[in-house]
This record gives sequence, C-alpha cells and structure tokens, in this order.
Amino acid sequence: MIYPKLFIPGPTPVAEDTLAAMGQPQVGHRTPEFSELWADVTAGLEKVLGAGKVFLFSNPATGVWEAAVRNTVKKRCLNLVNGAFSSKWHTVTDACGLACDALKKPWGKAVHVEDVDEALASGKYDAVTLVHNETSTGVMSPLREIADLVSGKYPDVFLHVDAVSSMMGTEIKVDEWRLDTCFASVQKAWALPAGFAVCAVSDRTLERSAEMQRKGYFLDFMVYENYYKKQQTPSTPSIPHMYGLQKILKDIEQEGLAARFKRHQSMAATAQAWADRHGQELFPEAGYESPTITAIRNVRGWDVNRLYEDLEELGYRMDRGYGKLRGEAFRIAHMGAVMPEDLDVFLKTFDHALDDEGEA
Ligand SMILES: Cc1ncc(COP(=O)(O)O)c(C=O)c1O
Repeated sequence: MIYPKLFIPGPTPVAEDTLAAMGQPQVGHRTPEFSELWADVTAGLEKVLGAGKVFLFSNPATGVWEAAVRNTVKKRCLNLVNGAFSSKWHTVTDACGLACDALKKPWGKAVHVEDVDEALASGKYDAVTLVHNETSTGVMSPLREIADLVSGKYPDVFLHVDAVSSMMGTEIKVDEWRLDTCFASVQKAWALPAGFAVCAVSDRTLERSAEMQRKGYFLDFMVYENYYKKQQTPSTPSIPHMYGLQKILKDIEQEGLAARFKRHQSMAATAQAWADRHGQELFPEAGYESPTITAIRNVRGWDVNRLYEDLEELGYRMDRGYGKLRGEAFRIAHMGAVMPEDLDVFLKTFDHALDDEGEA
C-alpha cells in the first residue's frame, strides 16, 4: 500500500536516504564504535543548537516535559498555557506531584513578555515552562524576549522550553539565550520517525538536579550526565535514530542553518498567501504565525472532513484541526524534509479537491 504523503504537523515525511541511513547495522551500546557515533551526533547537535550539552532520549518529548520539571522544581512551577500541548505540560507537572499554576491564554494567542513578567513578579516560582511553537494553534511565542526577561530580571528562575515543532525550523541559540532546557521530539522539523528526543541542558540545571530528591531514575539528568561523560546513554538507545540524526545533521550542514530557516519562513509565507487567496483567515494572533505550521481559521466553512477524504484519495494526508478546533481551524505543516516545491504541489492538489467539492 502507498500511504498518503504527510502534511500534518507531525509525524512529518522522512526522506528515503534518511531511512536508508537509519538501516545501518546495529552496534553494541557499550562499545567504542557506539561512542564514536554518540560523539559525532552529540557534537553536531550542540553546534546547531549553540548548546554546551545535549542529552539523547530514546523516548519522545512527553518524557522530557517530565524530566525538565522533576529535575528542577523545588518551590512552584509556572506553566505558560496557550494551547493543547502547553496545557498538557501543566497536567504532567501536576501529575509529578509538583506545585504548579497555569497562566492561561486563549488558544490562538501568543504568550507575551508582559504576561510572564507579571506572573514571575509574584516571587512564587522557581521554574517556568514555555511551549515555543504551539503545534495545536500554529502560534510561535517570542522566545528570545521571554528568555531575556527571565535571565535578566528573574535569574533564579529556571526556563524550560519545549521547541518540539520549532527546533530546526527557526533559530534557537540555547546558551546565548540562557535556556535551561530546550528540547524536541524528532518527528517534526528534524524529519525523523517519532520516538526519540534531544534536550539541551544548562550547567545550573545539572547543579539543581544534583540537589533534587525523588525524581525517579529513568529521567534523572544526573544519570544522563554520568553516561555523557562515558560518551554513552544510560540505557540501550534507539541506535537507528542516532544514525538518522547523524544523516540529518550532515544535510543541515549542507543546506546551512540560515538557509534552512529561510526555507521554512518562505513556505509559511506561501501557505499564508494561499489561505488569503481563498478568503480564509489565519488563526494565530497577527505577528506570531509559526514558520513551520500554518493554522487557518475556516471562515469559509469548508467541509474539512470531505476535503480530508478527497485529499487522501489524491495521495495526501491533511490535518483537520487539533482537538476542539476540528473543522474550525485546520493546519498545514511545512517543515523538515518538506521542500517549497512539495508544498506547491500539495496546495495545487488542495485546489483540485476544492474545485471538486465546489468550494473554490
Ligand atoms: C509542542 C509539542 N510538545 C510536545 C509534543 C509531544 O511530543 P511527543 O508526542 O513526541 O512526546 C508535541 C506533539 O505533537 C508537540 O507538538
């Protein structure tokens, strides 16, 4: 069976040569050849993220949500919530038994520096969590500004950043922006299969982790740190994902980070212009549209369920809107291995489907 080509916000398409790279022979994870692979991948990640230290997780980002808070929150955590994923991080923080509050913004709005400033001024918090790019709403919050505020005015507060659907689709400079953790699953703009995550961790996060009690074992950053020193991972990792990362890092080096980010921005502009041409509106607050996902407010009332079926027949998988937004705001993902010409073909195919449904 030929599966439809994915234009959903994850998983995203994986290139054939990446899949081939992932199929290289297994190596023992306590051997020099493994450490060589580990060192190559880790150094590559640290370079593209501008990070002093990156850990490799053979679990998706949901696990890293838990790691970030369990390793650092002593007092109280502020979860910035402006969509489904940031809301889940709050649920996870609470489920870990940690004191936490959600600062809730309406879906479609960004988190602003002033929101964060006002909440942190209370002095109640020692950590704050931000989803940089809310995948559910296609909104990208101003990470740089928020990070400057936290590091400048609230230097004792840890800043944890979920960059799951922004990392490698837009610029993030981990150390320069003083992010305490910054992580992503790899099935978005990294263009790899799901089930693996990368996480940059600051020195002071490790210092804090060393003081923390009852943080479990599997997600304990200190355990990761001990194995990092040996150029290994704590448990048997997904070696295919590491080969995949090695390949993508080479691709990124060839494309160039600036060119990669420009490609994502230009695909976003294409998708936004397409929506506009069709009399639709953008869902995000103006000025905070994501470069990797275009969320379209369905003001024309298109029947997205029928379009979904039509596009499936034409060989594409579209998104119909996340959760409560189903039908109201659908999303077009354009990240990772998706090239501008792929997006053009998808949008033309979408136009055919609209013609067929008499909705054009
Ligand atoms: C912003 C964001 N954070 C976290 C997650 C959870 O990632 P995973 O399912 O890989 O754990 C997702 C998944 O789509 C996401 O979009």
